Amino acid sequence: MVIARSTPNIALIKYWGNRHDAFRLPAADSCSITLDSPGVEISVEHSPVFHLQSFLPDGTEKILKEKDTARIEEHLNLTKQFLSTKNLADVIPESVSIVIRSAIPPAIGIASSAAVFAALAKCYAGLISAASVGAPHPINTASVGAQRAVPLPDAIHLTNRDISVIARLGSGSAARSIFGGFATLINKPDNLQPATCNTIDSAYAMQIAPETHWMLHDIILVPTMEEKKIGSTEGHHTAHTSPLFQKRIEAIAARRQHICIDAILKKDFEALQQVVEEDCWDMHNVMQTQTPPLHYLNDETHRIVDEITDLREREHLPVLYTMDAGPTVHCICTEAALKAVQEFSHAQKDCRVFEAKIGHGATFI
Ligand code: DP6
Repeated sequence: MVIARSTPNIALIKYWGNRHDAFRLPAADSCSITLDSPGVEISVEHSPVFHLQSFLPDGTEKILKEKDTARIEEHLNLTKQFLSTKNLADVIPESVSIVIRSAIPPAIGIASSAAVFAALAKCYAGLISAASVGAPHPINTASVGAQRAVPLPDAIHLTNRDISVIARLGSGSAARSIFGGFATLINKPDNLQPATCNTIDSAYAMQIAPETHWMLHDIILVPTMEEKKIGSTEGHHTAHTSPLFQKRIEAIAARRQHICIDAILKKDFEALQQVVEEDCWDMHNVMQTQTPPLHYLNDETHRIVDEITDLREREHLPVLYTMDAGPTVHCICTEAALKAVQEFSHAQKDCRVFEAKIGHGATFI
C-alpha cells in the first residue's frame, strides 16, 4: 500500500479552458502557490476490482456520486495510457482500491480536486516504484497470480514532471500541487511541433521557486458552504464559446504569465497584485460570457473584495485577492499584512475562514 498527502493550490494566473478536453490539455499557461493546508490523504493498493471510498472532513463516509467514481476510474485508465507511451504499462496495477480522507470541504472554491489528483498521482508513482524493484513482480503476482517473466532491473522512479502529467489527467490544476512553493503549468512547450502538441504528455507543471523563496499567506474567506452546481471541468469545455476567450489566451501568453513569474522571482508584491487581480476578473468575465454563462461570484464576494481593497489602500498593506470557480475570496498577503488581514477576515459575519500559507507540495507518508 502507498499513502500520499497533498494540498490545494491557489492560481495566480488561472487555467480556464482546454485545447484538448479528454487529456485536460489547457489552452494557456497558468501559475499558482501551493498551500500547506487543508490536506488530503490517499492510500492506494492493488485490488482485483476497482474500489473507492472517501471520507469527509468530519470523518463520515461520503456518499459518492456515480460521476465522481467514474472520474477516478477514468483517471486510472488515462494514467495507463500515459504510461504505455513510456513502455511502462505493465508496472501499474490492473485495478486498485483507493481510500480518500479529505479535510477540504468540496466544491466551494478551495481546489479539492487539485489535492486529490495530486495525491493520487503521487500514489501511482509510489506503486510503480514499489512494483519495479526486483522479482517477483509484486503487482502481477498479487493481481493475476503469476510472476513477471523478466524482472525489471531497477526501481522506476517517475520524475515530478511525469507525476504532474498524471495529476493533470485527473484535474488540470492538480499538476501544480505536485510541487511546493510556486509552480507553473506549461500548456505547450516551445519545442513541440503542431503534430505533437496534443499528445497526452504535452502539458506539465514545473516549480518556479520553492516555498522558502517567499513566505506568503492565503487567508480564505468562504461566504457559503453550498456546493456549486457546475464544476470547473464542465466550464473548461465551453470556455471557448466566450467572445473574450481568445483575447484572454493571448494576454496570458504575451504578457501576464511572464509578469507574474517575474514578480514572484523579484518578490515584487505590487506587480503581483496587479497582474493577479487583472487575470482573476478577466477569467470571471470569460465565465460570465460563455454559453451557458457561469456566475460563480455572489454579492458577498463583491462586498469582501471592496472592503479588502479599501483596507489595502487605507493601511498600505501588501494583500491581494483572487477567486476561483466559487464565491470564496482568497486574500494572499505577506507577513507584514497578516495580522490586519486575519482581523478583517475573522470579523466577517457568516464567513468561514481557513488560514493557509505556502506549502511544500505532494509527499509520501
Ligand atoms: C478556476 O483543473 O481544477 O481553479 O478539476 O474540474 O475542478 P476541476 O478543474 P481544475 O480547474 C481549475 C480552475 C480554476 C483556475 C486554476 O486553478 O487555475
